[in-house]
Amino acid sequence: MLKKTSSLKYLSFGKSTSFLTCPRCFIVPESSLQYKGAFLICKSCKQKYPIKKRVLQLIYPGALSRQVRNELSGNEIPLTRKNIERFATKDKWSKYYNHFVDQKINYLMEGLGHRNFRGIISLGSGPGFEIKEILKKRHFPLVFSSDLAPSATSIVPYTLSNANTTVCLFTSDLNYVPIIPNKSYPILIYEALHHTKSSLKTLERMMQKKYFDIFFVEPCTNFFIRFLAKLGLAQRVEYSGVRPDFIDLVKVGELAKKYKYKLHLNTIWDIPEEYIRRICKEGSWVESVLLIIIDLSSKVGNLLNWGSFAIVHLQINETRSGYRIYSPRK
Ligand SMILES: C[S@@+](CC[C@H](N)C(=O)[O-])C[C@H]1O[C@@H](n2cnc3c(N)ncnc32)[C@H](O)[C@@H]1O
Ligand SMILES: [Zn+2]
Repeated sequence: MLKKTSSLKYLSFGKSTSFLTCPRCFIVPESSLQYKGAFLICKSCKQKYPIKKRVLQLIYPGALSRQVRNELSGNEIPLTRKNIERFATKDKWSKYYNHFVDQKINYLMEGLGHRNFRGIISLGSGPGFEIKEILKKRHFPLVFSSDLAPSATSIVPYTLSNANTTVCLFTSDLNYVPIIPNKSYPILIYEALHHTKSSLKTLERMMQKKYFDIFFVEPCTNFFIRFLAKLGLAQRVEYSGVRPDFIDLVKVGELAKKYKYKLHLNTIWDIPEEYIRRICKEGSWVESVLLIIIDLSSKVGNLLNWGSFAIVHLQINETRSGYRIYSPRK
């Protein structure tokens, strides 16, 4: 049964400007946004960002690249009752899929550790699947959920209908993140970075903005994955029509060094379900054996950071200080 709200609360639009700034001007640490009527308006560039169905539309239309426009149309979900129900309950889709989700979320929880974070900011979060998973394990009083697609973002209240938290929903482009760096609010990107034209460039832009903690969970590449990609067995065109950009962990390490971030890295092998289904049925003993082999490979591979998925925590080096205005407009 569809339920939009129960214990879920919303951050007031006025208060959202303590956390969000204009994606075009990126003025920090004081936001240039002002809440007026049905808009957030930038005091600097005068851009008006509408608020529709409780979702702050923080995308500056002039900066959308062709790739992002394609991605946007590929991710628009018609908001039928059936679709809402389906996407709000992604955690019930497949036991096989959840086997790997559990591993990714567990590594994330380790990274979030006992740090006194007051909330979490999830980007590219679609209907908020990963937030639901995280909230099953740890309470965060304030949660930000953002995606390129407004329709996906408007499903989040259904996904989190049983969560006891406060949410702030906004649309944003990962290349123009409108978040004011805040030590108490780590950024999480779960399986969305690979939808950008260049995962590394998008990540670098975020590091330039000096976010304190960036977590991401993404498919990664190495010589073996590159070989599979050449055979057409990996990195294939996705549901949205975009060829994914799997992240190179060696290059992530180089960026971390350049921008003075500590890098915490875990990898797992996650084999897409469609491949496994060619060999065996769901719940069969063959599947159980294969999962044991895959998990063993993950454990061994992790020692060398060799896998098909990476769970990464980039933590700013505390000796860095001060803000500079980074203008993505150029
Ligand atoms: C594979 S889905 C993942 C959604 C969610 N994190 C999950 O695991 O269910 C990828 C998401 O990335 C979003 N996305 C793609 N390009 C983006 C961009 N440039 N900025 C923000 N989000 C983007 C899509 O709209 C889509 O919801
Ligand atoms: Zn502005």
